[in-house]
Amino acid sequence: MNPQSKTAKAVACANIALIKYWGKRDIALNLPAVGSISLTLEALKTKTRATFDPNLDKDYLIINDQQGSESQRKRIEKFLDIIREKSGIRLFAEVKSDNNFPTGAGLASSASAFAALSLAATHASGLELNKKDLSGLSRRGSGSATRSIYGGFVEMKKGKDASGKEDFAIQLASQDYWDLRLLILITSKDEKKMGSTKAMNLTAKTSPYYQEWVKSSGKDLDEMRKAIREKDFEKLGDLAEYSAMKMHALTLSSRPPVLYWNSTTLELIEQVRALRNNGIPAYFTIDAGPQVKVISLPDHINTLKSHFESFPGVENIMESKLGPDVELIGDDN
Ligand code: DP6
Repeated sequence: MNPQSKTAKAVACANIALIKYWGKRDIALNLPAVGSISLTLEALKTKTRATFDPNLDKDYLIINDQQGSESQRKRIEKFLDIIREKSGIRLFAEVKSDNNFPTGAGLASSASAFAALSLAATHASGLELNKKDLSGLSRRGSGSATRSIYGGFVEMKKGKDASGKEDFAIQLASQDYWDLRLLILITSKDEKKMGSTKAMNLTAKTSPYYQEWVKSSGKDLDEMRKAIREKDFEKLGDLAEYSAMKMHALTLSSRPPVLYWNSTTLELIEQVRALRNNGIPAYFTIDAGPQVKVISLPDHINTLKSHFESFPGVENIMESKLGPDVELIGDDN
């Protein structure tokens, strides 16, 4: 490595929203139209090394040992420009990112990717940000990344100020507060049809339900905070399903409609409901992709896992506890 290069490496966990973020009130600054609440997932990790190097002629991006696409590289370049402006560093960077889960298939890879990149790249540039500012910075890369700065139960705030200074995430409770377990049921490893950024902007423009979505979000957030505070699992699960269904109703009501599910997704929804009717505490949530995440409690996770292991159409299962904050790691990690 060039002696004048500056490097740092960080690891961040993906997160799954219980109350979904969908829609922006400012596209350029990436300010959300609604707040959101998520769980940070220990099993889904991105490790990112950022190296500012005087020998580079532009920014480079390597994801899972392969060169990133030009559009991914541009997205990183725009993000690094913000760090270059804040830190005064005048070098290009090589960003090397490794996910332990499929990229771009609705598993929140942009969340863990931008959270890890924010910490690695700011540290490498000599900029030391506190968690709040790191979260606000991650937002410029991806809205859901704000939440991956923290472990456990996290809320992304929708601010009022046009500058975005109030739009960052806070931790509601750490990962030790309540031992929730998740199963991630992978029904397809294909890249999703339309990325969430494009789809949420389409929804905002064309869905007749969009204003109602924005208006009703405050109540969902209040109720979810209460469910977490009271450790009311049924309430948490019920609200999570409701928010996911409401978000998918929005994508379905846009023009052209966006359908993220495949037939297995739908069967899994039915399965989770049937299991619940048989007394197993399990609830589903789904992001901008066909994977189904099942939220449950430690005593039931093995029963659920063996149930879904043999289920036709489920290609792979990942199990997760709640994960920690983003952190710097050594280069050999
Ligand atoms: C369905 O954070 O990917 O996962 O801010 O445009 O990068 P951008 O969007 P992104 O959207 C996530 C949408 C979601 C719901 C959620 O995570 O809250």
